[in-house]
This record gives sequence, C-alpha cells and structure tokens, in this order.
Amino acid sequence: MAISFNFFLLLLLLAGSTTAFPNFFLSPSFYSNTCPQLHGIVRSAMKEAIRNDTTIGAGLLRLFFHDCFAGGCDASVLLDDTRASVGEKTAPANKNSLRGFEVIDLIKKRVEAACPQTVSCADILALAARDSVGLLHGPRWNVRLGRSDATAAEQNAASFSLPGPGSSLPILLTMFAAKGLDARDMVALSGAHTLGRSHCSLYRERIHGDSNIDPAFSAALRSTCPLGSGNATVTAPFDRTPGRFDNMYFKDLVAFRGLLKSDQALYGGSLVDPLVEIYSEDNAAFGRDFAAAMVKLGDLSPLFGLPGEIRLNCRKVNA
Ligand code: HEM
Repeated sequence: MAISFNFFLLLLLLAGSTTAFPNFFLSPSFYSNTCPQLHGIVRSAMKEAIRNDTTIGAGLLRLFFHDCFAGGCDASVLLDDTRASVGEKTAPANKNSLRGFEVIDLIKKRVEAACPQTVSCADILALAARDSVGLLHGPRWNVRLGRSDATAAEQNAASFSLPGPGSSLPILLTMFAAKGLDARDMVALSGAHTLGRSHCSLYRERIHGDSNIDPAFSAALRSTCPLGSGNATVTAPFDRTPGRFDNMYFKDLVAFRGLLKSDQALYGGSLVDPLVEIYSEDNAAFGRDFAAAMVKLGDLSPLFGLPGEIRLNCRKVNA
C-alpha cells in the first residue's frame, strides 16, 4: 500500500514538474474517443492558413515555444490583456512580434463546433505547431495530448524565461537546462529558425558590430537595416529558405550567416560546434532530433483538469 502511494506521489511530482520529464498523463490518443475529428480539423485549417499566408507556420511554431517556456504549455500566451491583468502578449520578447492568434481562433471555433467543451487551446496550439512544421516539409511527430488551459497569464514568466536575440551560448544553455532541455535539445530546437524572419531592431547590432559574420552577408543587410532607429517594419529571413523546414539554418551558421547574435553563438569556437556541423550535413539527423526535442518541449508543466479549464475562447478565461 505504502509503495503504491509513493508511486502515486512520484507521478504527481512529475506531472507538476517545471522541467521536461516525460509526462505520464499526456497521450497521443487522449481525444480518440471524445474528438476523433480533431487531427483532421487542425491539419486542414493549417493547410488553408499556409495557403493564404506562406509565412504563418513560423508564427505558430514560435507561439508554441513562447507558451511552453513561460510557465508551461498551458495556452497562457493566448490570453488577451484584461482590465484586471496584463497578459504575456506585451512581454518584451513577445510584443509586436508574436503572430498566428487568428489561426488558433479559427481552429478553436471549428473544434468547438465538432466537439464542444472538450479540447484545450493548449493542445490545439501543440498540434498547430506540429502541422506547421510537417506542412512545410519538416518532420512529423506524435503530439502527446491532454493538457488543460491556464486560468491566468504569466507576464513575469514570459519576461524572464525567454532567451533574447543577444543571448550568449552559456545563457542559452542555462535557460534551456532550467527547463530540463540539454545542449542537443537546445541546438535542435534553435533549428526552428529555419522558418520565418526577424525584425531589424533585433539583428541591427550584429550586422553593424560583430566580427564573426560573413562580410557580404552583413553588407547586404545593412542597406535595409541602417544604424539608428530606422523603419520598424523591416525584417530579414533567418536562412536562405525561410518557407521550407530544412537544415539550411545550420549551413548558414557554418558560413557565419547567422542572423541573430544568439544564432551565431551556436557556432564558431563553441562547445556545440560539432552538433551544428552534423545538422548542417545531415537533414534527417536534424529532423529526428528536432522532433524528439519538440515532444520534450511539449511536456513542460502541462496542467491536468483543475485548476485548469477547457477554455471556450482561447483569448479569455471562461466566465
Ligand atoms: C534559442 C533561443 C532563441 C532565441 C534567442 C530566439 C529569438 C527569436 C527572435 C528575436 C525572433 C524574431 C522575432 C521578430 O522579430 O518577430 C525569433 C523568431 C522566431 N523564433 Fe525564435 N528564438 C529562440 C528559440 C526558438 C525556438 C526554440 C523556437 C521554436 C521551437 C523558435 C521559433 C521561432 C520562429 C519560427 C521564429 C520566426 C517567427 C516569425 O516569422 O513570425 N525560436 N526568435
């Protein structure tokens, strides 16, 4: 009896852990009986969304990362500000740059019509991120499901847990280790920057000041992203194929064409150089490690049942 009680306690501890232990409560088949249409609804909505805007998959992948790193994968990032509380959308790492909220709204609406009050926004986001990668030629993985949604946002967690564009390698390793993610996970997950783009304000210092950068690459970017405040809407892609999930990001790092300081921090006399080189030469190895690390990312502090809820509208807690 004592043994089974201890085992139960251990399960609870792992379930509530802030780090990426495999979570026994999550399962790919969680909605098999209660919402068998779920996977099809998410995938067809993501297909439509990417057909309308080929860059939106990048937005959804980033949304998932920012949700999971700020207090766990609990859809807290999706909550709008209210009169009583300021949410995560305006935290420094998120402000004016997170996108894809409308796609989640649309998927949630369709899922609610098919399976009312059953599927959490946190699980929808996890599936949308996975399908974004798959539809853009990247790997697929089984998403473990069964999370519930947070009833409050965590602006502080969003401000302090997310790495910034100037982060050094030791800082990146420390921030990921704090979530139970090792160097391999961190490097593989950084490969998400094979999709999407960054705003000029976040790579300006690098292209005007760094010496570990290909001179032709920085010169080409400097004309559209000059010193000074400049045009806030200017962006540049992270790699040469921003609409395709491939290992070009790592090839570009090896060529010293990393866009952010935090990207190039992974290569050029760094401890993780060998991993970057492996991924730059072996797209399949990158895909495998990325998929495995995404499953670990998705295991970060999910909520189960109470005190969470199945939000009816992903932007606000239930009345
Ligand atoms: C390793 C530390 C990381 C840092 C310092 C970092 C930082 C950034 C920054 C500064 C941007 C540009 C935002 C903008 O200007 O709109 C960005 C974009 C992006 N990040 Fe990261 N990121 C990191 C890791 C990750 C991870 C782990 C993922 C996903 C698993 C991810 C996915 C993305 C994607 C897909 C974009 C492009 C978004 C878009 O085009 O809208 N990042 N990141």
